[in-house]
Amino acid sequence: MPSELFEDMKRYVGFDSHDAQVLKGLLQPLSAALPSVVDRFYDAILNHPNARAVFGGSEASVSRLKASLLVWLTELFSGVYDEEYFARHSRIGRVHVQVELPQHYMFTAMTIVRLALIENLACQSPPNELAARSASLNKLLDLELAIMNQTYREDLVKRMQELERAEYEARISESEHLATIGQLAASLAHEIKNPLAGISGAIQVLGAGMDKNNPHKEIIAEALRQIDRLDAAVKDLLIYARPKPPERAVHDVGRIIEHCLMVLREEPSLQSVKVHYDGAGRGHAVHVDEAQLQQVLTNLFLNAAHACEDGGEIFCRVTRDSGATRIVVEDTGCGISPHQLAKVLEPFYTTKARGTGLGLSICKRIVDSHGGDLRIESQVGKGTRVTVELGGAA
Ligand code: HEM
Ligand SMILES: Nc1ncnc2c1ncn2[C@@H]1O[C@H](COP(=O)(O)OP(=O)(O)OP(=O)(O)O)[C@@H](O)[C@H]1O
Ligand SMILES: [Mg+2]
Repeated sequence: MPSELFEDMKRYVGFDSHDAQVLKGLLQPLSAALPSVVDRFYDAILNHPNARAVFGGSEASVSRLKASLLVWLTELFSGVYDEEYFARHSRIGRVHVQVELPQHYMFTAMTIVRLALIENLACQSPPNELAARSASLNKLLDLELAIMNQTYREDLVKRMQELERAEYEARISESEHLATIGQLAASLAHEIKNPLAGISGAIQVLGAGMDKNNPHKEIIAEALRQIDRLDAAVKDLLIYARPKPPERAVHDVGRIIEHCLMVLREEPSLQSVKVHYDGAGRGHAVHVDEAQLQQVLTNLFLNAAHACEDGGEIFCRVTRDSGATRIVVEDTGCGISPHQLAKVLEPFYTTKARGTGLGLSICKRIVDSHGGDLRIESQVGKGTRVTVELGGAA
């Protein structure tokens, strides 16, 4: 295939054994001038800041290029333009991709080389031979340009494909990694769930047998709260690892919000913040999995409460706009930096000592599985607004 390309190009410009003979005969008259051609080639690069930048200040690279160019120029007049010649010259385009030479500089540099060679040829040739000599030289320089350009393009495409493959493989291994973590988490959570229920039951029995004034009653209550936390974390892990498709039905969005707030009434982190909800959304029908939407809102309220110092405020608003229902949970808490915002939806990303980092990734997945949209806007020191947008009741 490579030499086929070379032969094809030769045929197009009519480059034949006669041209080869003519060029071979030019080595002797031109060889003394070739170093000056190299200098002109290099001066043109030096005078052009963007072209010069390709060397990145590497003197070694400059002298290698000057030496390579002299060899290349000399070979132009070897008289043998076979498969090996093609293979040697095919390297140039590839090296140019490696050094990240913008493709157009090969054309401009070739013009400099061409002009310098033809000028020298004019000085060294009898007038009746100049036209034929220039024609043969021009054909070869065009072939060189075509080889350089073709191999540059092929290598560039190959490199881009390699990059794409590397990116694809990184994505696959990332998702395999997550799947493994998910399976591990699921089996661990499963193992923990039943003994936990047993412990909780046993402690409740102990507590029930205690006298009302027994000072150990508070310890029992605290132990039960800790067990509840553990139970919630285990449930999150299971939900994350084994997501269920939503069982959708028509529900009143206002009632779902009220139910969440009612369940969270005793939640310690919500005791020091003020929650504003004016009942908006009452009578608004949404087509959702009720338990899953409750879980989304519970996670959002808890995050909002955790972000607030004492005296913080949480606002829950509902709006309806051309069939879509928007539920907004906004807080006046610490906010999220842009750097963190890029990560908060990733599973296991948490900034909390006791967080699992699954809350928002579960929310996102639930909202996605309802064909909805979850958006987070935040300003450090001001607060955070999470918007859950759901389609209308279908
Ligand atoms: C007529 C146009 C050109 C020709 C014929 C040419 C020829 C060559 C050759 C023969 C090599 C050595 C390839 C090898 O290692 O096998 C090379 C390398 C290189 N070329 Fe070009 N070149 C051209 C244009 C340019 C231009 C315009 C620049 C910069 C603006 C450039 C920058 C380089 C660099 C940085 C290297 C690598 C040098 C090293 O570090 O070894 N080339 N070129
Ligand atoms: N309203 C908010 N204000 C400030 N930061 C927030 C808010 N919501 C989420 N974050 C940040 O995003 C991180 C991830 O939240 P996510 O709910 O996924 O996990 P978590 O709350 O840390 O743990 P859990 O799995 O227990 O919910 C939090 O650790 C926190 O840094
Ligand atoms: Mg959370």
